[in-house]
Amino acid sequence: MCGIVGYIGPREAYPVVIKGLKRLEYRGYDSTGVALIDNGKLNVYKKKGKVAELEENVIGADLHSHIGIGHTRWATHGEPSDRNAHPHVSNSGQFAMLHNGIIENYVPIKNDLLKKGYTFKSDTDTEVLLNFIEDIKKNNNCTLEEALRIALKRIVGAYCILLIDEKDPDTIIAARKGSPLVIGIGKGEHFLASDASPIIEYTKEVVYVNDYEIAIVRADELILKNLGNEKQTPFIQQLDMELAAIEKGGYDHFMLKEINEQPETIFDCLRGRLIATTGQIIMSGIDNNIDILVNAQRIVIVACGTSWHAGLVAEYFFEELCRIPVEVEYASEFRYRNPIISKGDVIIAISQSGETADTLVALENAKEQGAFIFGVVNAVGSSIARLSHAGAYTHSGPEIGVASTKAFTGQLAVLMMMGLKIAYAKGTIDHNRYVELMKSLESVPEKVKEILANVDTIKAIAEKYKDAKDFLFLGRGYNFPVALEGALKLKEVSYIHAEGYPAAEMKHGPIALVDENLPVVFAATKDRYYEKIVSNVQEIKARKGKVIAVASMGDEVIPNMANDTMFVSDIDEVIAPILSVVPLQLLSYFIGIAKGFDVDKPRNLAKSVTVE
Ligand code: F6R
Repeated sequence: MCGIVGYIGPREAYPVVIKGLKRLEYRGYDSTGVALIDNGKLNVYKKKGKVAELEENVIGADLHSHIGIGHTRWATHGEPSDRNAHPHVSNSGQFAMLHNGIIENYVPIKNDLLKKGYTFKSDTDTEVLLNFIEDIKKNNNCTLEEALRIALKRIVGAYCILLIDEKDPDTIIAARKGSPLVIGIGKGEHFLASDASPIIEYTKEVVYVNDYEIAIVRADELILKNLGNEKQTPFIQQLDMELAAIEKGGYDHFMLKEINEQPETIFDCLRGRLIATTGQIIMSGIDNNIDILVNAQRIVIVACGTSWHAGLVAEYFFEELCRIPVEVEYASEFRYRNPIISKGDVIIAISQSGETADTLVALENAKEQGAFIFGVVNAVGSSIARLSHAGAYTHSGPEIGVASTKAFTGQLAVLMMMGLKIAYAKGTIDHNRYVELMKSLESVPEKVKEILANVDTIKAIAEKYKDAKDFLFLGRGYNFPVALEGALKLKEVSYIHAEGYPAAEMKHGPIALVDENLPVVFAATKDRYYEKIVSNVQEIKARKGKVIAVASMGDEVIPNMANDTMFVSDIDEVIAPILSVVPLQLLSYFIGIAKGFDVDKPRNLAKSVTVE
């Protein structure tokens, strides 16, 4: 949700910033802008649209500078337009600032500034904050850093900002609360970004800036302070990430690359943790807190979107295997509804980015009330990972495609290991079942490969149904959340209306939609509900609906009834969702492509939703 990049050092700043923005475009792509300083002059270039459009627009402009800040926007205040693009320039023309986040109390501040004669060129909260800083600086005759500190104490909201001063081309001032900021430390140069992807090719030494910290960044100096003006010691970490992981590697789209990476990402997630031959699952976040987890009175899973669907799958197997009551909550609802949190509750937060604002605040609230927080997070060092008492990374690698794919299967793999570990420690499953499920889970990477080998069948199905106006996705039991996830994926990348439903619940309403034009996708692998779902397929066929089934290899009944079938290997029903979702990811991808859409950057969406 908005990507920001900054550079200061001996290189030309513009190419570094532009390249970084391209890496961050998945966070927002409504508009793009950069601010540079050449020869004591601030040059700001901005344009509605993607980074490439800005690049075309600045051909021939003065792009020389050794300091630069850039922004790729996902609009919150003000429609996407040239004038609302960041960076914004203060009324005096001296300062330029960009911002990822939202300033909630900007209206009274703007009204005060208007009374004082300030004018605004954009509809953004950012321009208000910038002029507020300028006004404070003027009235207090203080440094820019001091003015920023005063302003930040008065605003309500979330921010990561980068601020530069035409009269001081040697300094970038940055601040964060709620929106991520990483600073890469080079030799005589510094890189700033919303995540590490723009930094990785220059340096592996990074500092994750904490909430309420201000960074004063010069080519050869990094000073961190809190809002009380006390110096903080930067905690330098090594990035454990390779450049290849954030590039397309020969694929047309990140989404396809990430779907295809799943055999390796799931394997990486399990590697060194799940050892079926010895019956061990080694996860330090769980081992170190096993008593808390085993004695949990209740597990509350908090997440959004696809991560919430992973939580729903976990609800099924945590309750079944561990016999612990589970509630799965949308973070956005949980944070505002004054939930009852009791001693003995364990909160599991699931998040790919680790930065989702609703999830983060929901956790902060729960933590304040004494809950134990366990994070299942992909982005290493992210805010949710740091806020959690303990956790397990999904090790899926950077996910760039906006529609989440490999992170989902990574989340399922972690949650399944977690469920197994707790159940075994608690004694709610016996050794044979424990090992049986471990073996099933261990077999997943190879079984995903088999699905990926049949991509042509799925592509043909996508071609056949790409013009449908609506889709229904149905599943029962462990496959019900898979149906929800299939519908979400299709909506995101093809803009086709789709609904996910429990297959039996379909009779209580959605069946009215069924006619010869409605494709109904069933996640119908062999499990305890198999006979029931066969009946549900018949009910759809009887009403002339077109059935597309995800069925188990070897099944003859459902494929005979369905118009089209995508096969997955037969696997234990507890583990099945991790396989049955893969054909649905591919189906959405190919429909999106067939319709000519940019599946990596679907309209209106952004990866990492850092505003509520
Ligand atoms: C869907 C998708 C979103 C995210 C949601 C939560 O494809 O990507 O629904 O799952 O925004 O994001 P994280 O997992 O980063 O908290």
